[in-house]
Amino acid sequence: MQRIKKIIVFSHDKNNAPCYHGKMDKTNVKIIKHPLLSHKVALLRDYKTSTKEFRELVEEISVLMGYEALRDLPLQTITVKTPLEECRQDIVCDDCVAIIPILRAGLGMVEGILKLIPTAKIGHIGLYRDHDTCKPIEYYCKLPEKMNKKTAIIVDPMLATGQSVIKAISLVKASGCQKIKLISIIAAPEGIDAVSKAHPDVLVYLANQDRKLNEKYYILPGLGDAGDRIFGTE
Ligand code: URA
Repeated sequence: MQRIKKIIVFSHDKNNAPCYHGKMDKTNVKIIKHPLLSHKVALLRDYKTSTKEFRELVEEISVLMGYEALRDLPLQTITVKTPLEECRQDIVCDDCVAIIPILRAGLGMVEGILKLIPTAKIGHIGLYRDHDTCKPIEYYCKLPEKMNKKTAIIVDPMLATGQSVIKAISLVKASGCQKIKLISIIAAPEGIDAVSKAHPDVLVYLANQDRKLNEKYYILPGLGDAGDRIFGTE
């Protein structure tokens, strides 16, 4: 796994699209390097990939990324009887994970994480962007109970401006949760920077850091609209 050491600082290119130059330290951001992950992201980006394949790939990528993000789950030791002997073995503590998809694209990542930890509780956060202020407004937020005792895994495949993620993290923090992680497949430098500044205590797991946002806040090269591609609503 590679920790981001350098991130570039914001300006605009000749088409008035935001772009980055310069350097900052980001130790809360981890780009997961694995040949299978890179291969699957390449397939995901391809405009020819069908809705069915896209959905399957998002799930598979979520398994690979979730494996990394769940590395430090709390453990408890139990006694197990093998066919030969009794032994002590660590298992994951009960009820210690909440998966929180940001609607709607985040829903595509839930099944993948559930494959790793099927007993996880699931919360949902729905946000829309206010036309005048461009700020994310909450329209739905339902989180599991006892969030103060859980690790929250917020999932959203695309970290673009970071504004929705920042709001989602604030909502999860307001529930009392103290251990929050974000898994996004592809991120723009602008989003990484914004989330790291607003919530430096949150660990961010990425498969790829892309070049920049365009003037409509899509990630370049990105993969288009993740929600549309997952749900076939293009
Ligand atoms: N959301 C998407 O689905 N795609 C982007 O490129 C940016 C935000």
